[in-house]
Amino acid sequence: MLKLKVFKDYDEMCAYTAEELMAAISKKPDLVLGLPTGSTPLGVYSNLVNSYKSGKVDFSRVTTFNLDEYYPIDKNDPQSYYYFMFNNLFSHINVKKENIHIPDGSAKDSDFEVENYEKMIEEAGGIDIQLLGSGINGHIGFNEPAESLNLKTHKVTLTQSTIEANSRFFNDISEVPKFALTMGVGTIFKARRVIILINGEKKAPVLDAMLSGTVSTNVPATLLALHPDTTVVTDEATMAKTKKG
Ligand code: GLP
Repeated sequence: MLKLKVFKDYDEMCAYTAEELMAAISKKPDLVLGLPTGSTPLGVYSNLVNSYKSGKVDFSRVTTFNLDEYYPIDKNDPQSYYYFMFNNLFSHINVKKENIHIPDGSAKDSDFEVENYEKMIEEAGGIDIQLLGSGINGHIGFNEPAESLNLKTHKVTLTQSTIEANSRFFNDISEVPKFALTMGVGTIFKARRVIILINGEKKAPVLDAMLSGTVSTNVPATLLALHPDTTVVTDEATMAKTKKG
């Protein structure tokens, strides 16, 4: 059963989520956190940075695993998720560099990279809390809608709809990488707790599908209804655009 939390607005969604993460870190200082990119989690990251600066949270023993990365892409490319994560979070908090994991978009051998990534998550004891956003087509990580989905971390061909949606960050749509490395749905499901942030009119159909009482690999986010501890965090405006709103 999904737990649904509807907040007044985006700021409150992010404040709640950051508080949940910080409470978990204070309870378990060596927490293993799964992290997403995208514009949705940005408010959570700025809350975490501010809390760190005011001494409210210590990341020194925290381990992180990012969900996904474009492929191929260089770490220093401003469009890479590596760059995004350092720019928006890691450079501003005291997480140790050796505890940060992001699939390597410049790995020559992508098969080895995805297998090794999965192994590293296992060796870290698994993910305690996986934070997620979703694509407008309901993808989680880069697990794109399809008849069947991969369980493990794998290389994926991005759908045209994702390339179009993500092209807003690039100068030209032709610059958007065609592939990505992503945790699989099984990797995500092994996380002990999942928090998924759904915000904005464009995401209302995803929320609708998640609340519909059915699951489909054609909207991967709906599968989370099968996870034992998933919280959907949204706001009143997004909720109002759903059939339930
Ligand atoms: C990318 C990432 C997803 C993320 C999505 C949504 O496609 N692979 O993990 O959830 O963007 O981005 P936004 O929050 O900007 O809508």
